[in-house]
Amino acid sequence: MNSNYSEFYWHDYKYLPYEKELAFREIQAVLNINSFTDMGSHISTSSSFVINLFKRLTYFSHAKINDEIVYTLQYYLESSCHNGNIITNKRQSTRYSVHGLHEYKGKFNPQIAKSLLNILGIAEGQRILDPFCGSGTSLVESTQMGIHSVGFDINPLAVYISNAKLTALSVPADNVEQVGRQIIDGFSTTRREFKLSELPDERLKYLQKWFDKSILFDIETLYLLIKQQDENIRPIFFILVSNLLRDYSLQEPADLRIRRRKSPMPSIPFIEAFKTNFNAFINNLRLCQKLIGVQPRLGRAYIMDSRSDSYSPENNTDTLYNGAITSPPYATALPYIDTQRLSLVWLDLCKPSEILNLEASLTGSREIRGTTKSFLQDIMINNSNNIPHNLHDLCLELYDSLSPEDGFRRRLVPMLLYRYLSDMLKMFRNVYNVLTPNAPFALVVGHNHTVLGGKRFDIDTPYLLAQLAEGCGWRIKEIIPLQTYQRYGLHHKNGIAKESLILLYK
Ligand SMILES: C[S@@+](CC[C@H](N)C(=O)[O-])C[C@H]1O[C@@H](n2cnc3c(N)ncnc32)[C@H](O)[C@@H]1O
Repeated sequence: MNSNYSEFYWHDYKYLPYEKELAFREIQAVLNINSFTDMGSHISTSSSFVINLFKRLTYFSHAKINDEIVYTLQYYLESSCHNGNIITNKRQSTRYSVHGLHEYKGKFNPQIAKSLLNILGIAEGQRILDPFCGSGTSLVESTQMGIHSVGFDINPLAVYISNAKLTALSVPADNVEQVGRQIIDGFSTTRREFKLSELPDERLKYLQKWFDKSILFDIETLYLLIKQQDENIRPIFFILVSNLLRDYSLQEPADLRIRRRKSPMPSIPFIEAFKTNFNAFINNLRLCQKLIGVQPRLGRAYIMDSRSDSYSPENNTDTLYNGAITSPPYATALPYIDTQRLSLVWLDLCKPSEILNLEASLTGSREIRGTTKSFLQDIMINNSNNIPHNLHDLCLELYDSLSPEDGFRRRLVPMLLYRYLSDMLKMFRNVYNVLTPNAPFALVVGHNHTVLGGKRFDIDTPYLLAQLAEGCGWRIKEIIPLQTYQRYGLHHKNGIAKESLILLYK
């Protein structure tokens, strides 16, 4: 326990205003410090705290405590590792540890996930749930803090990426490296002898459409080599290849939708890009394991629909969670599945013919399949899903604002918002049922806007979701705007929060 004057120093990168806000909340929650002075480059305090707990903080690099310097674990994690030497970065790193294994749209900043766990007071050995876990950022951060975690997602690729990352944390980097070397060493010979099946199945036909023959041979050779490896370690390598697929395909990589490629293909051979990514990944994994050791497997992701009726576990308190954190899909979600089609098919997680259904099944999807527009319209007008009245009124107001100039997509907006709110209501009920009494639930939620009948509507999704949650028993503790611009800076007009943090308690 320290009882003298201390100074806490920021990392050496530029901060977004909300990050400092989270930093202050963290020191209150973790160190129980309520009084400090912001000195610009650092903060100072005369309060006493447990020195070891300081190491858990996210947004500070080190502290001077009685002339002793104490670094946070985050400082080391965000550093990179070259030939065993630790090099600090000038920019906030979001790809440290296993986070950089695979791109994922709408990914959490790992720092936010970690600071939320701290702010909610989730202790080592406790259990958390992420009902929309995506690529598993919160599950990885939990594992690194000794917290058990379960992640649910409806997208099989999200679940696969999450589990690959969690596996990597639990296998010594030397073992992963050995397997990687075997794959790389075996590549040339296997590639030379490799033959595609003469009777292509649905998977292969799809891949043939989107890859040049030579790249297809590269990725299918790698598929074969990876398949021969230890079942437990395989997903790490499948995911490393998957992360390169779009860049080497005939789809325009930067386009959120599927369009035929116009930009030139990368000049580096596929296997070289794979080697580079593999080496970078092993370096990060090694550094992480040097700092926190090889972690036991504390987290797992499962395919689960947040609206599912079979969400609640048996009435057994052992299976309840001590908290939940998540970043849910937006009201009109990003087309997650579109940009991931090649990975879903190559990994055999989804048949090409099932992709559109999967896309449409996501909460927040803009697609309507299986139901007709008039059916959705009736449900909305009658509020058949019993969402709170003021939220229903908002959907009706949007509906009444439609004018003949609004095109097909715009005319769907009121129904899609109603469907989104109905889906999120089911999720709030489900998560409520699996948490211990008084447990917290933190959600990072984006704002939306739409233009209907020539009029702009700002849709305060965080507020709407908090209302939904309250309607099914949650207590709203706070809705905190996560300011991404300086409040009084040059971009004053842009000073509205793009996202907010909703803090709920059961
Ligand atoms: C904003 S992303 C989460 C990203 C995640 N925090 C990360 O760091 O990668 C939202 C996720 O919700 C998932 N999702 C959408 N509808 C769902 C549903 N009904 N049930 C479960 N997951 C769903 C999407 O597949 C997507 O992965």
